[in-house]
Amino acid sequence: MSDSFTPRSVLVTGGAGFIGSNFIRYFLERYPGTRLTNLDILTYAGNLRNLKGVDSQPGYCFVRGDVCDGDLVASILSREKVDAVVHFAAESHVDRSILGPEVFVRTNVLGTQVLLEESRKHWVSKAVEDFRFLQVSTDEVYGSLGPSGLFTESTPLAANSPYSASKAGADLLVRAYRETYGFPTLNTRCSNNYGPYQFPEKLIPLMIHNIIAEKPLPVYGDGLNVRDWLHVMDHSRAVDTVLRSGQPGGVYNVGGNNEWKNIDIVNLVCDLLDARLARVAGTNRSLVTFVKDRPGHDRRYAIDASRMRADLGWEPSYTFERGIAETIDWYLANQEWVREVTSGAYRDYYEKMYGGRA
Ligand code: NAD
Ligand code: TYD
Repeated sequence: MSDSFTPRSVLVTGGAGFIGSNFIRYFLERYPGTRLTNLDILTYAGNLRNLKGVDSQPGYCFVRGDVCDGDLVASILSREKVDAVVHFAAESHVDRSILGPEVFVRTNVLGTQVLLEESRKHWVSKAVEDFRFLQVSTDEVYGSLGPSGLFTESTPLAANSPYSASKAGADLLVRAYRETYGFPTLNTRCSNNYGPYQFPEKLIPLMIHNIIAEKPLPVYGDGLNVRDWLHVMDHSRAVDTVLRSGQPGGVYNVGGNNEWKNIDIVNLVCDLLDARLARVAGTNRSLVTFVKDRPGHDRRYAIDASRMRADLGWEPSYTFERGIAETIDWYLANQEWVREVTSGAYRDYYEKMYGGRA
């Protein structure tokens, strides 16, 4: 598949978070020297530590700021002559969205609209030859599946949590900008990601963290909810592929064809860590604690990613066996990172690197 678009100056939003930082690592290793500006406000989930090593590459630049700040976004677009926006910034945790939906609407809906509007103005001004706006979204916008079937790109949006509703709102704005203004948008919708640098509030890193600390492993409801898991590097490669070769206006489902019941994942992580921590087989499984279900808990997600395969030649490269083993080893080797992100101590790194300035 040949590329139809070559980005020269990319604005990545949310690049200090889990997927954004892995994407930047992937992108700058693959295309060294490409101009890349990372706009991130550094919430609890954004850690510049995640970018250690890549942040010294020529062409990389960090701006601390809010995607809802139109003047700031406009100034970056024009100063950097940005020709591609890859929009990861979001509030991303379903449980937090149940406790406090407002910030999800602000960041995920309003933030996307501000970025779209400033990007559209920049595109209309013909400051750059060609332009792409890539909205990184989630399979959760489609709602919940029964025991069979897959989400395709034409499955109607039926979000059930405040998080997924805010992502669906953003996706509809992206569609509206395409339909109304002919703005060259792209929209990926990916299944659950796992891998290094994921904040230990999401299922897999939380379980690893609690097992190491010998704490209870909270499994919601009956543990039989199903998610489709994809390694974050396969997602990063998919986003890059869509950016370069996707059809403007296109929506692309991204998934691992890798469905797991939550309890089976938790048991697998328990067993792998029994071996690594030299604990007697079965020790970690005894930490599993079934707790009250998440309200509105989607039963099953599963993705049909055949458009990615057929049109763009993308498929996952990680087997789950390899990906989960490497992820567990990464967390074991990076306990200091876990301590820092959970205590907020990584902010010292920001002070050191940037003198606390935006
Ligand atoms: P994350 O929570 O780890 O990171 C989000 C980043 O956005 C953080 O660095 C945070 O500081 C930044 N941010 C938040 N509000 C901001 C604002 N107002 N202005 C600028 N930056 C802001 O999230 P993630 O898991 O890396 O997810 C990234 C994107 O991918 C999200 O859009 C999410 O919806 C989507 N996605 C995630 C998954 C998953 O499994 N994690 C799956 C599919 C899609
Ligand atoms: P999560 O990682 O929060 O991702 P999402 O809700 O976006 O799919 O949760 C993955 C699955 O694991 C989901 O079905 C909820 C469940 N879960 C637990 O059972 N216990 C937990 O402590 C967490 C965080 C999640």
